[in-house]
Amino acid sequence: MDQTLKVLFIISEAEPMIKVGGLGDVGGTLPLALQKLSDRQETETELDIKVVIPYHDHIKQLNWPVEWVINYKIQNRDSFLDVYVSKTLNTDIPIYLLDGEPIRNTDIYSSDTYVDAEKYAFFSCAALELCRALKWTPDVLHAHDWHTAFGVKRLAQIRSFDRLFSKTKSLFTIHNLPYSGGNHPDVLYRYDLQPAYDPAIPDGMRSLPMALGLDSADHISTVSHTYAKEIKTEAFGHGYQFFLQNHSDRVSGILNGILMEQWDPSTDQTLYKNFSAESLDERIHNKRMLQQELWLPQKDETPLFVMIGRMTYQKGFDLCIQALRQMRDLNWQLIVLGTGEESIQKACVALANEFPDRVRVEIKYDSLLSKRLYAGGDLFLMPSRYEPCGIAQMISMLFGCVPVAHATGGLTDTIKDPEDYPDAYTGFLFADTDIQAAEWAMRRSLTYFADKPQWREIQKRGMRQDFSWEKSAKEYIELYRKLSACPASSD
Ligand code: GLC
Repeated sequence: MDQTLKVLFIISEAEPMIKVGGLGDVGGTLPLALQKLSDRQETETELDIKVVIPYHDHIKQLNWPVEWVINYKIQNRDSFLDVYVSKTLNTDIPIYLLDGEPIRNTDIYSSDTYVDAEKYAFFSCAALELCRALKWTPDVLHAHDWHTAFGVKRLAQIRSFDRLFSKTKSLFTIHNLPYSGGNHPDVLYRYDLQPAYDPAIPDGMRSLPMALGLDSADHISTVSHTYAKEIKTEAFGHGYQFFLQNHSDRVSGILNGILMEQWDPSTDQTLYKNFSAESLDERIHNKRMLQQELWLPQKDETPLFVMIGRMTYQKGFDLCIQALRQMRDLNWQLIVLGTGEESIQKACVALANEFPDRVRVEIKYDSLLSKRLYAGGDLFLMPSRYEPCGIAQMISMLFGCVPVAHATGGLTDTIKDPEDYPDAYTGFLFADTDIQAAEWAMRRSLTYFADKPQWREIQKRGMRQDFSWEKSAKEYIELYRKLSACPASSD
């Protein structure tokens, strides 16, 4: 061990306390993986990582055991604001929960972008000030997505004169670029945050929180290698492509991992029947029970597609729904689970009405049912228009449910198609974001499904993969180390 690296990790969600989407998985599991690596002394660098999230009302309602840590004040242009900090007990590593007026009585994410801007500007600035309250100097500020981008900007502004942060570097991780936050220059003004000034960021976007983070981060990472390339193009760049092209030396991709022990069909108590790559015959019980549970005809030979997730335009459910209509000549079943936009929910229900003996749609969030779907489904549909990383495809493979997905972002980086890997394929990818391409891939997957011995090999290969955080956590530590070794610049 040659040094202790101190990392302030600020994020809007962290499971198990709070998870709206994949960001919450990362918030909960990456710090843990980093800490484990450091505790096992597998890297040269010892880590001291403090994870800070807002004390959302939702967490208070869970009555999670916490202990009070400290109170302090921060100043904005209008007034002094009180900050109250607790930390969680009964979690693998403590999570600091930060509270104050702009955080109270709010949803995790509001439909009012102004409320959100105020909440997260307060949160990000107060999280930086927590370091001062604890007399703890971070080497790296690791912020995630637009919600915490305010902190990256603030750090860049103050480190030229604020001795506590004079050597602190920032890493800003993009999990979902199109979600930029609301355009509220007056909130920036109140928290003394300057708009982004890089000329490659379009004028109308300079006050967007995402722009602030990109503009002032020492390094920008995103959650897969392919997405790191895609965001430099017009199709995926959402106006930031020129900026990202110009600064490509400070943009890189590190693939998300998962906690493998959380996703193990051989031990998972919520399944009808446990199984592994070595006892794959047992898996069929899960399919039969699932068909029974959802009143679908109990047929082993009928390929069962499943589609799980937030029903947003990003996730592309509409592509597969239409493709399945065009595949009515074939034998298949489909179960959809998720909630989201009204129009997508309706489209799913319409398909179920059209195919009452083949399609079931469950409009809800249900983590237990989702595991039964991973364990009982044959094919996992993931037609995302874009997918920075994605976690569901990894889980589905570990559960022997073979993915059919759009070749984008993390889906490209985690799924191996027969055309590219004739001896090692684990799923099926389609290149274009359209119905024909989805249909082609789904039809193709069914020809493989019909060949049982071959199908079992695909399943086994998928189940034996290692999607743990290990490799990526090492890459983050390396990046932290590199960053902390460079001199700091300021805005
Ligand atoms: C966002 C992205 C998803 C990614 C997750 C965690 O939810 O849409 O692709 O896996 O963040 O990084």
